[in-house]
Amino acid sequence: MSIVIRDLHKAFGTKEVLRGFSVEATEGETLVILGQSGSGKSVTLKHVVGLLEPDQGLVEVDGLEVSTLSREELYDLRRRAGYVFQFAALFDSLTVAENVGMGLRRMKDVGEEERRSRVEECLALVDLDGFGDRMPAELSGGQRKRAGIARAIATRPKYLLYDEPTTGLDPITRAVIDRLINRMKEELGVTGLVITHDMESAFRVADSIAMLYEGTCRFHGTVDEIRDTDDPVVRAFIEGRPELIEEAL
Ligand SMILES: Nc1ncnc2c1ncn2[C@@H]1O[C@H](COP(=O)(O)OP(=O)(O)O)[C@@H](O)[C@H]1O
Ligand SMILES: [Mg+2]
Repeated sequence: MSIVIRDLHKAFGTKEVLRGFSVEATEGETLVILGQSGSGKSVTLKHVVGLLEPDQGLVEVDGLEVSTLSREELYDLRRRAGYVFQFAALFDSLTVAENVGMGLRRMKDVGEEERRSRVEECLALVDLDGFGDRMPAELSGGQRKRAGIARAIATRPKYLLYDEPTTGLDPITRAVIDRLINRMKEELGVTGLVITHDMESAFRVADSIAMLYEGTCRFHGTVDEIRDTDDPVVRAFIEGRPELIEEAL
């Protein structure tokens, strides 16, 4: 039960974004994929849930090659892989509870009663008990993010995919979100894929870290290994010192 990304290639017109990216998240771990803005992190995540198709290479989830799945199988996959969008992406005209319960509406085996109790349960897991009747506009940035996580876990996924979960949040709220990501792993046993350029957050949630650079995997290892690496490109990124790359050239 894992996510395997193998030799993934993706171009948009003449722009080659992914040029043979390979990395694997094993069951129960949180894999962080680091990369600069525009490096192809969101493009990678979209391949995992079948929103984009590879030009070459593949993505496997639970041993199934995503690009070969039927409509039905893809729908099933998206239930098993909760997606936490970069900008929370709540529907502003729906209440928080309606947003969180959205994915459950499409599950025929989940009745209204069960939907209601699952929504409550998910809101409690992200410390938003009692917020179900609020409208998204009444929430703070951090609360919106948490509501986005509650929505992603409502279908009881085995995988959680987080697109820049801490970007644009203040330091305290970032720490809260990171703790929540760890709690999802510990209490729900989910395998997590977190894409970010927030190093502090990466170190707090990662079991392993990969770095996407110029379309391929520049580094993949444990948190200790990345702290010790001599690779100037990786060091430049984790220390926020771009001059390290130039010095190495
Ligand atoms: N659907 C698309 N059509 C054309 N270009 C795209 C599309 N999606 C992403 N791109 C381009 O691919 C590159 C990587 O994007 P993205 O994965 O969103 O970056 P990030 O690492 O910041 O998440 C960017 O240059 C972006 O403009
Ligand atoms: Mg992105």
